[in-house]
Amino acid sequence: MDEIIVVDYGSQYTRLLARRIREFGVFSKVETPENIPITEDTVGIILSGGPASVYARDAPQINNAVLEKGIPVLGICYGMQLLSKVFGGEIRRGEKCEYGLTNIEIFNSFIFNAVPKKIQTWMSHGDIVSKLPEGFTLTAKSENGIIAGFESKEKHIYALQFHPEVSETEYGSEIIKNFIFNICKAKQSWRMEDFIETKIKEIKETVSNSKVIVAISGGVDSTVATVLSSKAIGENLVPIFVNHGFLRKIDLEVPKVLKVLGINIRTVDASKLFFERVKGVKDPEEKRKIIGKLFIEVFEDVAKPINAQYLLQGTIYSDVIESASASSLSSKIKSHHNVGGLPDVMHLKLIEPLRELFKDEVREVGKLMNIPDSILNRHPFPGPGLAIRIIGDVTPQKVEILRRVDDILYETLKETGEYDKIWQAFAVLLPVRSVGVKGDKRTYDYVVAIRAVDSFEGMTASWHPIPLEILRKISSKITGEIPEIGRVVYDITDKPPATIEWE
Ligand code: XMP
Repeated sequence: MDEIIVVDYGSQYTRLLARRIREFGVFSKVETPENIPITEDTVGIILSGGPASVYARDAPQINNAVLEKGIPVLGICYGMQLLSKVFGGEIRRGEKCEYGLTNIEIFNSFIFNAVPKKIQTWMSHGDIVSKLPEGFTLTAKSENGIIAGFESKEKHIYALQFHPEVSETEYGSEIIKNFIFNICKAKQSWRMEDFIETKIKEIKETVSNSKVIVAISGGVDSTVATVLSSKAIGENLVPIFVNHGFLRKIDLEVPKVLKVLGINIRTVDASKLFFERVKGVKDPEEKRKIIGKLFIEVFEDVAKPINAQYLLQGTIYSDVIESASASSLSSKIKSHHNVGGLPDVMHLKLIEPLRELFKDEVREVGKLMNIPDSILNRHPFPGPGLAIRIIGDVTPQKVEILRRVDDILYETLKETGEYDKIWQAFAVLLPVRSVGVKGDKRTYDYVVAIRAVDSFEGMTASWHPIPLEILRKISSKITGEIPEIGRVVYDITDKPPATIEWE
């Protein structure tokens, strides 16, 4: 299957580029500058934009060998300046920076096939290419007289200063299409159905007759990865569902739902053990660490006798990006526990069939495999579960209260149609009691906070305004049906400064 590799230099539009290309029916994946895995399927490479200046000390570079393979390369913004530097052009800080809408004049080039001579583009750069590298021709110039495009047909190198992937750029789609179809000659061979088939074949070949284990969480990604892999290796896939006691009502239904899809999950009820270990623990980091460590212990106990050689993970593209950027973060915000820590400990080889996909593409794959919407449209849920939504110490009684609150919130959002408009919504049980009055009697009960956020992949988030009448319904149902709750509050904090989860 022909593929275009997008090399990520840090632009916020990188993912958009890969997505656009896939929408045109050509497979595209994002890779880092340090690792550009060119294969015989690679028909084109795009170097994305990025915030650095090519002359900065730590500026990301390109391995020159990549440019010498005769595979067409398109550099966009930072990518263009990098190409200019590599081939001996000059770059300097512009007196006039170009940010936002900028008109450009276009000269003859395949990349501008069927594009008018003057178009409006989206620019975002401080540095400019002040002199073309030798042997390259100018293909576009901005109204400020700045080089907006150059190329060398012999070297198969193309460069654009503006962002064709952004909707503000007129004829942007045509420009991308010209690159992938006229220049790279890519074949339209990307369809989700084909992706599923290719992955099934790949998994079969990799795994052969070995056993593969997977920790099912009930989330979208691990479920889709499991169903996909079971199509490839059937009984050799061993899905394990660890019930740590901090699950919601909808999570507990997961084994039943997957059984309908022909997947038999082995459920391990370790809740007693988990409750014992977190007893009295108030510190959020300590709580997360205890749960993460115990999860591995329990998982290992079940996995060892199986003698598995592979671990299946539902890693998706945003996880790949998050762990790449997480490595450069100097301060750790919180220990995320999912099965990401398992391979190191267990020496298992990893299988990650969804690694290149975006969340909505994962959902599309799930839909094609008949996974019900009740799982596919589920909001994200953290590995440590309700334990990190109970502030302070965790007890079975508190979990039971929060499980009921969560169920009311979930059902109300579902029945009002608000659930699908929100990226993630949940309730938090606070270690605070407050005075109230129920049926003429003084009460002194728990407070819960409702949080709803809109986000792109969880890195940042803005609080979601649930309509007031729905909030009123949620609040009166919770206080009416759960005697232990006396007050409901609404969290109106973005991320940053707050994180999405409270612990
Ligand atoms: P924070 O609270 O860091 O959350 O803003 C960002 C997103 O990640 C989810 N989250 C987790 N997911 N294991 C997970 O698999 C974890 O330990 C974990 N902690 C937070 C959170 O629900 C939100 O979607």
